[in-house]
Amino acid sequence: MKKILTIIGARPQIIKGAALSREINTHFRDKINEVIVHTGQHYDQDMSGVFFAEMNIPEPDYNLNTGSGRHGGQTAKMIMGIEEILFKEKPDYLVLYGDTNSTLAGAIAASKMHVPVVHIEAGLRSFNKAMPEEINRIICDHVSTLLFSPTKTGIHNLRKEGFRIGQDPPFSPDHPGVFHCGDIMYDNSLFFSDVAEKRSNIISKLSLQPGNFILITIHRDFNTDNTQRLNRIFSAIYQIGDRFNENFVLPLHPRTLKQLDSKLDPGLLKNIRNSKHILITGPVSYLDMIQLEKNAKMIMTDSGGLQKEAYFFGKAVIILRPETEWVEIPENKTGIVTDADINNIVDAYVHFNNDDTKLSFPPLFGDGKAASFICKQLTVES
Ligand code: UD1
Ligand code: UDP
Repeated sequence: MKKILTIIGARPQIIKGAALSREINTHFRDKINEVIVHTGQHYDQDMSGVFFAEMNIPEPDYNLNTGSGRHGGQTAKMIMGIEEILFKEKPDYLVLYGDTNSTLAGAIAASKMHVPVVHIEAGLRSFNKAMPEEINRIICDHVSTLLFSPTKTGIHNLRKEGFRIGQDPPFSPDHPGVFHCGDIMYDNSLFFSDVAEKRSNIISKLSLQPGNFILITIHRDFNTDNTQRLNRIFSAIYQIGDRFNENFVLPLHPRTLKQLDSKLDPGLLKNIRNSKHILITGPVSYLDMIQLEKNAKMIMTDSGGLQKEAYFFGKAVIILRPETEWVEIPENKTGIVTDADINNIVDAYVHFNNDDTKLSFPPLFGDGKAASFICKQLTVES
């Protein structure tokens, strides 16, 4: 029996973790014992609690209740909490997802204690170290013993940084195992697509017409905390609504909701609030989000997860960032990176709104069985 300690903390990690926990509980019950630690990085009911019930995720064994804060303090609190638990639980592996401060904290605590780190979503790079996530990813990859990359690009990035692919076990941080396993978020999108159809009523609740609205999420610090960028994004949304009679649904992250009143130009804010085309809500549940994604005409986002889910559900995506680590999507021409530039955003909308724009979605993110692949590797005896 292998004992793994899984760290979750931010919304997308709770969601990704659901896929691995589900696989363990259905096919690896007698081989893997999972202990779940919630760092408490996200804590609102609609940023955390809602997912546990809806996705049938086991209750965390520990909650560090870290809460929000500046990077240093937040990460430090988590490191101290995770270290204590590692001493007590003595797991065979520490499992980490993605690139948040919870990921970084787990990587530092475990690697210093010589607990092998497993990084799910390894190898992704935006090549923009102004993003806190880029720093977290690089550090985590370089102390990991097992690296699971969702894409070929991730494998390519790791190779360029000196990782050797196809090594034989036994693995260690100095001799890591690197695997291309597909995207664990795809496991969930496939599993919950029909469930969402049956259980979510968000489309009728918000009086939406399927195929007749654009879904938008915005939460990156460089968009929410930068007055100019936030104003440009909202100006583009307002212009498209006004000029093209287009409807928008924006389930916004709490950090974005908190910034609207103080950062948007008062005239623009009034227009946005009064627009019959623009519906702003708080965060929605995962099943509601799937229904919004499936029924949207197209998606605009700065989220990593939303870019991929747009692809999984066959939707064009306008990427409100200067670059993306999911480069396959713009390369496949189903996504356009517009940054926070009003003209770019409007042009991308016009392009995707044109009936002559044909899109295809070849399988770039694996087969939806990433969790099974990962569990098999975790149970290999070395
Ligand atoms: C974090 C991750 C980001 C990820 C995102 C997923 C880091 C550095 N960033 O960003 O990579 O894409 O989660 O959503 O780890 N807040 C609440 N309630 C909550 C949580 C947050 O109100 O439950 C507000 C607080 O004002 C907080 C702010 O959101 O200060 C930012 O939260 P934080 O976890 O620091 O970063 P995210 O923007 O959520
Ligand atoms: N999500 C959700 N409700 C929302 C916004 C996002 O359930 O209101 C889900 C979304 O479907 C995806 C994940 O959260 O699975 C993406 O998380 P987020 O955008 O917060 O972070 P990122 O992926 O950028 O790290």
